[in-house]
Amino acid sequence: RGEQGVKIAVVGTGYVGLVVGACFAENGNDVICVDTNVDKVKALKRGKIPIYEPGLEEVVKRNTAEKRLSFTTELAAAVKASDIVFIAVGTPEAEDGSADLKHVLGVARDIARAMDGYKVIVDKSTVPVGTSEKVREVMRKETRHPFSVVSNPEFLKQGAAVDDFLKPDRVVIGADDERGAALMTELYAPFTRTGAPVMVMDCASAELCKYAANAMLATRISFMNEVARVCELYGANVDQVRRAVASDNRIGPSFLFPGVGYGGSCFPKDVKAILKFSRDKGYDFRILDAVEDVNAQQKKKLLQMMKQRLRSLKGKTIGVWGLAFKPRTDDMREAPAITIIEGLLKAGATVQAYDPEAHETARRIFGNRITYARNAYEALKGADALALVTEWNEFREPDFARMKKRMNTPIIFDGRNIYKPEAIAAQGFTYYSIGR
Ligand code: UGA
Repeated sequence: RGEQGVKIAVVGTGYVGLVVGACFAENGNDVICVDTNVDKVKALKRGKIPIYEPGLEEVVKRNTAEKRLSFTTELAAAVKASDIVFIAVGTPEAEDGSADLKHVLGVARDIARAMDGYKVIVDKSTVPVGTSEKVREVMRKETRHPFSVVSNPEFLKQGAAVDDFLKPDRVVIGADDERGAALMTELYAPFTRTGAPVMVMDCASAELCKYAANAMLATRISFMNEVARVCELYGANVDQVRRAVASDNRIGPSFLFPGVGYGGSCFPKDVKAILKFSRDKGYDFRILDAVEDVNAQQKKKLLQMMKQRLRSLKGKTIGVWGLAFKPRTDDMREAPAITIIEGLLKAGATVQAYDPEAHETARRIFGNRITYARNAYEALKGADALALVTEWNEFREPDFARMKKRMNTPIIFDGRNIYKPEAIAAQGFTYYSIGR
């Protein structure tokens, strides 16, 4: 047993499951991670992690070596060996925009069948309000053993997942009974030492937290993207406006950066889901309709700018910097780069792309329809313009002279506002950015 000694099973070794499992082991618990994918489990046993996430591989390797973390395909045995079982399987988007719960409920049923005594079952996947009740129903049909169902939404960000998990802003525990609440509070006790509040509430409230938080962040982004549009119309500079707005303590500086629209596996899906489960009860969440609509327009913004400024895109060569939906990940789910590149190709342009991590992901989407450069400068060879889509650090201070030499015409469309317009003009570039 580890120093803290709670025995945990985590079902699903996707993004959240793997981080949660590895980090609970790091805190001294015994963790078994379960996945049905045999190849994935084999690879994980060898310390090979299927995603790019800074710091995660070390945590996985260290805890596997110290025997606090193990991987298996045997769900029943893992359940029997554990006090707490986390469900961290995917909730893909169903056609109607709701979260598809078939994996969550399937796992709940299998857990119930394997139980040999009291367990806490934790919903870690982002699930709509009411899911814990559904999990409870499914389980009651399968077992006579007592259990608690707890909702414990995860707020980690890709690219900073390990840190976010180990040093959270808050821990939310939704429990409808004392026993489950007590065990979860004990499990998270080490986190309170870093000052994070552990908030215990009813399941429905806990389930809503994650959606409300993500929808609020998405709202801030769409809001600033609209402010940027108005800035353009009046010749104002959105950077100045953003700084002034952000310095109000009540507003704060984060998630106010205008750009090419939000992407990723969470914001788009969660905004859709909250719209859907509100509508299911007859409520029209109007602000989020607008947030979604603005974001869809924003993903086309850079493309429209290029069409307008370069007149025709037919036969033009465009260098694209950044494919991942944000830096420090290889994830391209709902990435603005997809909308932009598909638009460029449709308009008859040639695309030369470069991303530090996402080429493999991009190949699955675009195949040979675009070329993948070995470095940022190679993507600019003979280019009529550069489209900067993801703000990777290595793009922040490039060798401008080298860029210019490579390009056919020195034009930059910056979808992330990472350069200072005056500085870049002094380098001899024609420069377009968002809202300034
Ligand atoms: C998001 C939330 O930030 C996490 O708190 C949450 O746990 C997670 O979703 C989840 O639900 O699992 P993530 O999707 O990894 O995390 O990425 P973010 O850093 O939030 O970025 C989301 C998108 O918003 C990116 O496309 C990013 O480029 C965009 N963004 C972000 C902006 O356009 N402007 C900003 O000011 C900030």
